[in-house]
Amino acid sequence: MSSLAIYPGSFDPVTCGHMDLVHRARKIFPRLVVAVAINIKKQSMFTVEERVEMLRGALKDMDGVEVDSFSGLLVDYAQKKGATIIIRGLRALSDFENEFQMAHMNRRLAPNLETFFMMTSQEHFYVSSQTVKEVAHFNGDISGLVPDVVLERLREKNSNFQSME
Ligand code: PNS
Repeated sequence: MSSLAIYPGSFDPVTCGHMDLVHRARKIFPRLVVAVAINIKKQSMFTVEERVEMLRGALKDMDGVEVDSFSGLLVDYAQKKGATIIIRGLRALSDFENEFQMAHMNRRLAPNLETFFMMTSQEHFYVSSQTVKEVAHFNGDISGLVPDVVLERLREKNSNFQSME
């Protein structure tokens, strides 16, 4: 049976950088789970349900990709799913320290799980969910940086937010 890989993250919201990674990872791993972490400590713009829905919309034409959510430890979720690989994207040096710590902690907790790092493509290395939300909040142009389904949702969120201000 082919290895199942998990691509975990907050995806608040999914960006074209994430999408690029899913497409490239899918060429290597025939079965991929994109897993939205439920993190009650981290404040998010979108609910888990909204994030899952946007990912499902953006990835609807991709075979072999499942979108799911999880709470608790990633390693426990991965083991429950029968996955052996965790995929993470690396943008710049700033990502490295945190990713290094996470990969080692996860390996300590579950030595049978391997973390694979993939470099973000050149055209996406500056794109993050955080910057996209900030630019969208001030009505800046984020077309081409997020899937269309996210573009609409961000517009809705911001118009609701601005009407409350
Ligand atoms: O997109 P993000 O916010 O960089 O993703 C981080 C994420 C969700 C992968 C990480 O915080 C995580 O794995 N959370 C689940 C809880 C867990 O396992 N924590 C220990 C990691 S060392």
